[in-house]
Amino acid sequence: MNFKSDNESPAHAAVLQALLDANEGRATAYAEDDWSERLNQVFSERFETDCQVLPIATGTAANSISLAAVCPPWGGVLCHQAAHIQNDEGGAPEFYTDGAKLVTLPGQDGKLSADALAAAVDGAGAHGVHNVKPSVVSITQATECGTSYSIKEVQAIAEVCQSRQLPLQMDGARFANAVAWLGCTPADITWKSGVDLLSFGATKNGAVTAEAVVVFGHPDWLEALHRRRKRGGHLLSKMRYVSAQLLAMLDNDLWLVLAAEANARAASLAEGIHQSKHFSIHWPVQANEVFMQGEPAKLQWLKDHGASFHLWPGHSDLSRLVCSWSTTDEEVDAFLQLLQRAR
Ligand SMILES: Cc1ncc(COP(=O)(O)O)c(C=O)c1O
Repeated sequence: MNFKSDNESPAHAAVLQALLDANEGRATAYAEDDWSERLNQVFSERFETDCQVLPIATGTAANSISLAAVCPPWGGVLCHQAAHIQNDEGGAPEFYTDGAKLVTLPGQDGKLSADALAAAVDGAGAHGVHNVKPSVVSITQATECGTSYSIKEVQAIAEVCQSRQLPLQMDGARFANAVAWLGCTPADITWKSGVDLLSFGATKNGAVTAEAVVVFGHPDWLEALHRRRKRGGHLLSKMRYVSAQLLAMLDNDLWLVLAAEANARAASLAEGIHQSKHFSIHWPVQANEVFMQGEPAKLQWLKDHGASFHLWPGHSDLSRLVCSWSTTDEEVDAFLQLLQRAR
């Protein structure tokens, strides 16, 4: 009953097979191998537009290098106060941007609202050079609260961005879970809705370690992205192994099949929690994470009886249960049975 993190899940067999297949002979280094060179075409087909793809090893690097390519050191990155870039990336966005400021905003269910964003951007320059200059907006899909932005919500944010010449970056560490939950195309929820840069996550969803920066349009950003990836130490010499994982995930839409599995387990968990006496659901379950509220002593009792999960920082009565592609129905059932016995 391990619901601590999708990062704790194993890699999918198809990804491991792709690594073995890629492990034949020599291949040009530094992302000039056949696997890396196929990424643009494969992602462009799946996203229904020409896009440029930079494979990269971690989500933190994908976010930080993307933001640094579009945000000057005197700029502001506007994001939700719960954003991973704000709370869990150890200052990497600030480091890669040479010191840009993260400007955090509140918002219901872990989402930025278009109105709050517009007000923050429009009110930001009152003191001229004494203020940082709003330079990019970052949203997380699915959010840190386990919710997913709808197409309309992304479009409304993108309108605010476009009318103020601000790029829109999407942290998609759990992008697959959001797309699977929304039932839309990846195109619908990204470039068609106004997203310029996507950190496409695969590691949590069954890869060993593989993420990608996906750029929609904006050829003028590419040099900065490529140079910052190298300068930041993320141009892996044996990139073929990262790219082969990404190709395996996109093959036959494995990424969406696996994400749908994780989401289904989360939905079953939520269903059972709804019916329990002592616990309740805190945020709507719209991807693969369930936030369950309950008395601290009861949450501890669950842990003492074999359930593993994290508490939401600063909240002793709020637990985070994360399902992955490898979470089984049996694990979910065992957890729900434990809930019935909790005291
Ligand atoms: C929403 C979100 N963004 C980005 C990341 C960063 O990924 P990594 O740990 O690969 O740097 C994570 C990882 O937990 C995440 O949850």
